[in-house]
Amino acid sequence: FPPEKIRNFSIIAHIDHGKSTLADRLLELTGTISKSADNKQILDKLQVERERGITVKAQTASMVYQAKDGERYLLNLIDTPGHVDFSYEVSRSLSACDGVVLIVDANQGVQAQTVANFYLAFSKNLVIIPVLNKIDLKHARPDVVTEQLHGLFEIPSESVLRISAKMGIGIDDVLEAVVSRIPHPTGNRDLVTRALIFDSWYDRYKGVALLVAVVDGHLRLSQNITIAQSGKSYETKEIGVLHPDPTPLRTLYAGQVGYLYCNMRSIKEASVGGTIHPTNATVEILAGFKKAKPMVYAGVYPMDQSEHPMLRSALEKLLLNDSSVESKVESSAALGHGWRLGFLGVLHMDVFNQRLEQEYGAQVVLTAPNVPVKAKIFGAKNIKAYGGEIVTVNNPANLPDPVMIEEMSEPFVIGTIITPDVFLGEIMSLCMDRRGVQRDSRNIDSERIMMTFKLPLNEIVVDFYDKLKSITSGYASFDYEELGYEPSNLTIMDILLNGDLIPEMTSIVHVTKAKERGKAICARLKETIPRHQFQIAIQAAVGSRIIAREDIKALRKDVAAKLYGGDRTRRDKLLKRQSEGKKRMKMIGRIEMPRETFIKVLER
Ligand code: GTP
Repeated sequence: FPPEKIRNFSIIAHIDHGKSTLADRLLELTGTISKSADNKQILDKLQVERERGITVKAQTASMVYQAKDGERYLLNLIDTPGHVDFSYEVSRSLSACDGVVLIVDANQGVQAQTVANFYLAFSKNLVIIPVLNKIDLKHARPDVVTEQLHGLFEIPSESVLRISAKMGIGIDDVLEAVVSRIPHPTGNRDLVTRALIFDSWYDRYKGVALLVAVVDGHLRLSQNITIAQSGKSYETKEIGVLHPDPTPLRTLYAGQVGYLYCNMRSIKEASVGGTIHPTNATVEILAGFKKAKPMVYAGVYPMDQSEHPMLRSALEKLLLNDSSVESKVESSAALGHGWRLGFLGVLHMDVFNQRLEQEYGAQVVLTAPNVPVKAKIFGAKNIKAYGGEIVTVNNPANLPDPVMIEEMSEPFVIGTIITPDVFLGEIMSLCMDRRGVQRDSRNIDSERIMMTFKLPLNEIVVDFYDKLKSITSGYASFDYEELGYEPSNLTIMDILLNGDLIPEMTSIVHVTKAKERGKAICARLKETIPRHQFQIAIQAAVGSRIIAREDIKALRKDVAAKLYGGDRTRRDKLLKRQSEGKKRMKMIGRIEMPRETFIKVLER
């Protein structure tokens, strides 16, 4: 296929608007997969994706289409994940495309991710084919939704296709539009080879697979190649296209999209966004994309320390397949040896955790997540000691001494919410409660509004989305884009037991939230710490000020006497059990804290 007969495109959509169903139809209609029930949603490969119905890892497939002009075209469908946490992956998949099919559910209409996806594609100058899906539904409102697209994005109404992916209506119109509206890749086959790496995964037998878009020249088997960004060289061992199963070829030409194995052992070398060129040639580096930065951190520990080696090997395997997860060993006196992992967002964290449990049977303790904060240090001496004026902290326990901090900053986002207007009031109070500031609000049709808020990321990482769904019975949609760090009135909150600090429980909170958080943690501790011979005071403190307090009353004397009295063997047995138990205890002053207590309080 010469470049003029190739089209590289993605399907983008809000979650559940029918992306996978349409992808399957396109593959069926072009004879790439057969029409059978087993092939349902062939692109959603992972079990988590099946269960949750969301596409996590981008998958790609090539198909051959006989168009109405009588010509045969090679269509490369580059799949993109469909959730806010993965917008980075959407962005990188789009780098390999010349156009997109933007699906909108004809019943639900434009949703928050529709807006985000539209602007992603628009900012990359891609041709956008608007498609209304699910026109078979009784409540479909194609005219209203067409008007929304026009009002929001100035999309001409006559360019909007109407289909039903489920019933197979209008599918060939989509294929025709892909051929006629999306430009072919512009690469030159006579130039020195350049290929963009836009995804990677790990194969247990063959090592790292790279997904590449060949921009100029060609890639062939047994060629010596170099990744410009890392300077590392390899020899191509297998190249081919995904059809959708890997189909080896001898050569991939400019304009084509395919996979490549080159005996790469570590996914860290994969440099997604990097440029491949022939070894010994110099080329201009292709515009890649920014590496995704983890924005949500959490500690991961085995439920039982004896499971540590098993958890390590499970983690290693998963990390091989997801280079966007950051990992660092961490240990805590209370929780033992574990890791601090960095995720793109909360859903990313959930999916990772679910995979860990599902695919490896590992039972893990995941601590409550936190976002990174930046601390500005003052004083030349302090700055030198910390190796810079700005220190980014991923774990509250590692925050520099508060007396040396001039200012703290936290990450903010712009959140977009689309909702029926009846929920306006409740959404406003939710956002305000989360320290949000409204930026904009506009009607997108007679009963729906789109609002944007500036929000601290920290306030949305845990349960914002769930809350929003529950107050709107699932009718509101949400997406966000990062805005960067801004100074914020953050403070350190410590938890004390009879005056002794529990380092694991130190957290960074906004001053307006300190009291509420402090109270909640104290109450949780009161529930979980066993009673002792003496009274225990649980306190939350900001600096020297106590902001919350709970007390655990002392055990009554006679209870203890009875416990340790009685016959000899019973006493020995109890003492033995106690000493075993002690190993799992941590002492805070004179207070014994069972590991389970830490888990219950720290776990999210
Ligand atoms: P993600 O992969 O999570 O982004 O979802 P998706 O956009 O791929 O949605 P998917 O294709 O999984 O479809 C979501 C639901 O809508 C499924 O239950 C489909 O059966 C249904 N669906 C898809 N297309 C149509 C359609 O044309 N008509 C009707 N009635 N239902 C459809």
